[in-house]
Amino acid sequence: MNLSEIILKRRSVRKFLDRPVEREKIEVCLEAARLAPSAENVQPWRFIVVDDPGVRQRLAEAAFSGIYKPSRFAARAPVVIVILARPDIVANKLGKAVQGTQYYLLDIGIAGEHLVLAATELGLGTCWIGWFSKRGVRKVFSIPPKYDVVAMIALGYPDPKHLGPKRKKTLSDIVRYNTFGWK
Ligand SMILES: Cc1cc2nc3c(=O)[nH]c(=O)nc-3n(C[C@H](O)[C@H](O)[C@H](O)COP(=O)(O)O)c2cc1C
Repeated sequence: MNLSEIILKRRSVRKFLDRPVEREKIEVCLEAARLAPSAENVQPWRFIVVDDPGVRQRLAEAAFSGIYKPSRFAARAPVVIVILARPDIVANKLGKAVQGTQYYLLDIGIAGEHLVLAATELGLGTCWIGWFSKRGVRKVFSIPPKYDVVAMIALGYPDPKHLGPKRKKTLSDIVRYNTFGWK
């Protein structure tokens, strides 16, 4: 598959086959994330790969209870990758104060999507999870405050019976050349 085909194929997968993901494949995905660009080359990302069913169960209970129950499907993925960030004080404080942008969140988005696209190339399905209890995740892994728990990615072989269609805005909805032009 070339890049356009991978991008076209990728979609959020919320049902997975009961089939473990080979560690070598996980490593390929993580390597793609590792090579992502980041503001000031801070590389703020850290990844906790959860492929042990016991740990995954503890994570699910802590992260996907109460108002976070809609994300419980992720607990049925063979792998859950928790993405943490350790923001650089200078780059991030300055970025936020002067530019009004939390660069580390952009960095995590880019690295995570590298991971997702690499997974797609390998025939794996993924889903970003942004709706979970950060506090719960912190507790499970005893994560100190200087790390932000930004997102998770559920990973596994997709159940082909459950692949939904993509609903996307058109280019004319989202692009203007040389002008602003939205209401
Ligand atoms: C930052 C981010 C957070 C997301 N959080 C969740 C989530 O908590 N639960 C969920 O089911 N999907 C989540 N998604 C997946 C989106 O719902 C999905 O990308 C969107 O509906 C478009 O569908 P597609 O990925 O198949 O193109 C998230 C996606 C992103 C990028």
